Amino acid sequence: MARLSTGIPEFDRLIEGGIPQGFFVALTGEPGTGKTIFSLSFIHQGLKDGDLGIYVTTEESRESILRQAKQFNWDLEGYLDKRLIVIDALMREKEDEWSLNELNAEELVQKVIQAKQKLGYGRARLVVDSVSALFLDKPAMARKISYYLKRVLNKWKFTILATSQYAITTSQAFGFGVEHVADGIIRFRRLVRDGKLHRYILIEKMRQTNHDKYVWEIDVVPGKGVVILGRMQERKEDYALPKRVMDKIREANEDAFR
Ligand SMILES: Nc1ncnc2c1ncn2[C@@H]1O[C@H](COP(=O)(O)OP(=O)(O)O)[C@@H](O)[C@H]1O
Ligand SMILES: [Mg+2]
Repeated sequence: MARLSTGIPEFDRLIEGGIPQGFFVALTGEPGTGKTIFSLSFIHQGLKDGDLGIYVTTEESRESILRQAKQFNWDLEGYLDKRLIVIDALMREKEDEWSLNELNAEELVQKVIQAKQKLGYGRARLVVDSVSALFLDKPAMARKISYYLKRVLNKWKFTILATSQYAITTSQAFGFGVEHVADGIIRFRRLVRDGKLHRYILIEKMRQTNHDKYVWEIDVVPGKGVVILGRMQERKEDYALPKRVMDKIREANEDAFR
């Protein structure tokens, strides 16, 4: 089975060498945990390996994405419109060929296919950052929309990373449906410990792979991107919220369904 390197060698080793070609992998986690930088690394590595790249950005502008990549010495601009297309779905008033006019799954799929046709024949990597943006106003549709994306884009032989948000308060996946459809789930987390921000990564699912099952601490390093620091030291209070907080959340959830 062909596996695609993420550009993070220590991470590739946790999943038997890389992401299986053709997979639809969800990157879920709270804001600021490294999902976008991980995705950029995946696209950059693809370009180095001779793959085509399509990056759909719904939360940052194309310029912001390219600037961010540059901070890690990933020169994406040099590939732009030749082997890479960045589809800007930020919904500003902008007239360019690679912007979306409306943020919905059909429009997105159409634009992605148009981009692939423009780039031409060859193995391609696709990032949808974030897929949650497609069902912000209809979380119940998450599964259906994710399934649609996977089914249609599969025919085009993409290997796909789709980022999705976590509800910060309850740690429940927003639009949980993405995870059901995904061939793989990479969970990003953040914690404040001893007054400092720490970030972690856990492979929750990777079909057809004997993947690692530990929580790894990561960091974002200028000039490098996402790096793996080492295994997390388990402490119950780090992953379990205090009982009184959990009770509050449960109450709030029950109220919401009354
Ligand atoms: N040049 C940089 N040097 C060090 N850390 C950076 C740099 N650029 C971004 N970061 C870190 O990465 C974080 C953003 O990561 P990002 O992948 O955008 O998160 P997410 O997509 O999960 O919201 C920033 O909050 C910052 O901590
Ligand atoms: Mg992001």
